[in-house]
Amino acid sequence: MALLTELIFLVFLFLPLFLCRSPVRADTFTHSRAAYYPNSDQQGTSDGACGYKSFGATLNGGDVSAASNLYRNGVGCGACYQVICTDSSLCSTDGVRIVITDSGSSSDTDFILSQKAFSKMGQTADAGASLLSLGAVDIEYQRIPCSWPGKNITFKVDEASDFPGYLAFLLEYQQGDKDITAVRLCETENLTCKLIDRSHGAMWAVNSPPSGPLSIQMLLSGGDDGDETWVVATNNVPESWKTGESYDLGIQLN
Ligand SMILES: *[C@@H]1O[C@H](CO)[C@@H](O)[C@H](O)[C@H]1NC(C)=O
Ligand SMILES: *[C@@H]1O[C@H](CO)[C@@H](O)[C@H](O)[C@H]1NC(C)=O
Repeated sequence: MALLTELIFLVFLFLPLFLCRSPVRADTFTHSRAAYYPNSDQQGTSDGACGYKSFGATLNGGDVSAASNLYRNGVGCGACYQVICTDSSLCSTDGVRIVITDSGSSSDTDFILSQKAFSKMGQTADAGASLLSLGAVDIEYQRIPCSWPGKNITFKVDEASDFPGYLAFLLEYQQGDKDITAVRLCETENLTCKLIDRSHGAMWAVNSPPSGPLSIQMLLSGGDDGDETWVVATNNVPESWKTGESYDLGIQLN
């Protein structure tokens, strides 16, 4: 009898623990699988499909990922996700926060994480090593707002702009959980704007770019409210923009 009482006591003691475990993330998290880049070391990737180059290797301390469906033809580049693996004996409850820098998939995965980000899902370094030995694991993920303390959105002129009449650029360090789905370059003198296409990944490119100092307009889509809004950069890109240079646009999103 005493044993039975003890058992009942134990059940009541631990019941709240079981009840608390799952419902917390049920609504915003999606179940999937994640693998990792076999050859990546402690960095991200500098040859990802998004076109970030060296920026992609060091971005977010190397906690980056390739995405399959979430790549969305490049619109998903730069989006941030929280990824948590689900094996409770190995995985931490907080997982890892990653940025999309590449496109790719392997056997039913939504993410191919950098090796660094993948092992970070473990509770300890040892657990991280055990996760790596599994190759691919079950996960839950949700999109989260990106946060780049001390950074404004930056207009980076790509190396490909090194011939006349061509401008290719990246918009780096965009905060929040919205997508930039269109860009307009406007001449500041007479406010003539040109709508720019995404050339590939996170890269925007235009033949015969407008001249003079350029005012940058960005169309934001998605996010919680689902609204579309044009935002205008505070700082212009100078007339004398140079290949490989970065220009602080003087605005940031929340
Ligand atoms: C003004 O707009 C026209 C296009 O309508 C363009 O050709 C011209 O170079 C623009 N810039 C200035 C400074 O007038
Ligand atoms: C970001 O832009 C604001 C407003 O234009 C400016 O005051 C600030 O210095 C910029 N921040 C950085 C880190 O450049």
